[in-house]
Amino acid sequence: MYARRMSQAHEKPATATLLADKAAAYLERVVGCLDRALPTQDETPRRLHEAMRYAVLSGGKRVRPLLVYATGECLSVDPEKLDAPATAIELIHAFSLVHDDLPAMDDDDLRRGKPTVHRQFDEATAILAADALQPLAFQVIASAAALGDSEKIAIIKTVSAACGSLGMTGGQSIDLASEGQTLSAQELAEMHYLKTGALIRACVISASCLANELSPEKLTALDKFSRDIGLAFQIRDDILDVAGETAVIGKHAGADQELSKATWPALFGLEEARRRCDELLNSGTAQLSVFGADAEPLNLLAAYIVERAH
Ligand code: IPE
Ligand code: IPE
Ligand code: MG
Ligand code: MG
Ligand code: MG
Repeated sequence: MYARRMSQAHEKPATATLLADKAAAYLERVVGCLDRALPTQDETPRRLHEAMRYAVLSGGKRVRPLLVYATGECLSVDPEKLDAPATAIELIHAFSLVHDDLPAMDDDDLRRGKPTVHRQFDEATAILAADALQPLAFQVIASAAALGDSEKIAIIKTVSAACGSLGMTGGQSIDLASEGQTLSAQELAEMHYLKTGALIRACVISASCLANELSPEKLTALDKFSRDIGLAFQIRDDILDVAGETAVIGKHAGADQELSKATWPALFGLEEARRRCDELLNSGTAQLSVFGADAEPLNLLAAYIVERAH
C-alpha cells in the first residue's frame, strides 16, 4: 500500500521504486524489532502479553518508524542506530491508541478493522497492556546496543517530553475537554500539535539527535517540517473519519461527529480541511529544500501522510 502510494507520489518512477523498496525493507525491519522487543505470549502473565502483542502487531501503517528512518536517510545516520527510536515511538503510539479507544475516551469497538484491545480482551487488560507498553518503549532505548549513553539520554528526553502532559497525553486531555466546544483555528491546531504532532515531531528530532553534524538552520528546517506534517496528519485523520469508508479506514466512520469532537472538518468544513492539508504539505516540504535530493524519502512520506486513504 505504502509502496504504491510512494510510486504515485513521485515523477521519476525509477527513484520512486527504489524508495518504495527501501520503505518495504524498513517496514519489515521495524516489525521484526517490535516482535523481539515484546514479551512472548507464552510468558506469564500470558493474557497481558497477548494483549500487548495484539495492540502492537495487528497492522498499522508504521508511519512513525518510517519517519525515523527517512529522517535518518536524510542525515546519513546508520539505520542500526535508528531501530531503537523507531521501535520505541511505535510502542508509545500503540499504547496511546489502546487508551484512546477505551470507553472513558473515544469508546471505539474497531481499530484497524479488528476489535479494539478492550473489546478483544477486557477493559482492565487493555489498561494494563497500555501501561506496560509505555515503559517498554523506554527500556528499548535504554538498552539499545547501537547507541551511546548521551544518544540514549537525548532520545529519552525527546520521546518522554512528546508523550507527557505537555505532549500527546496533554493533547488527549484537551481533546476530551473540547468535545462540543467551538475552538478557533489556533486552538484546534495547538490541540492537534500536542495529541498527534508531538510524537510525529519526536520521530524527526530523535533521528536528528543521531546526526553527526547538523547546523541549527537544518535542525530548525526539520523541526518546522515535522510540525507541519504532524498537524496535517491529524487533519487528514479527521477528514477520513468523515469522508472515509468504514471498510477502508478500519474503524467506525462518523464517530467524531457522534462524540461532537472538535475537528478541522467539523469546525471549518471538509473543503477547507483539505485545503489546509495541502498548504501544510507544501510549507512542510519547502523546508526540506536545504537538504536537496537527500530529503526525497521525507518528501514522499509527507505526501503519503496527506494523501493516505486510511
Ligand atoms: C491514528 O494513527 C491516530 C492518530 C494519531 C491520528 P495512525 O493513522 O498512524 O494509526 P495506525 O498505526 O496506522 O493504525
Ligand atoms: C488519536 O486521535 C490521537 C492519539 C491516539 C494520541 P483520534 O482519536 O482521532 O484517533 P483515531 O481516529 O481514533 O485513530
Ligand atoms: Mg481520540
Ligand atoms: Mg479515537
Ligand atoms: Mg480520528
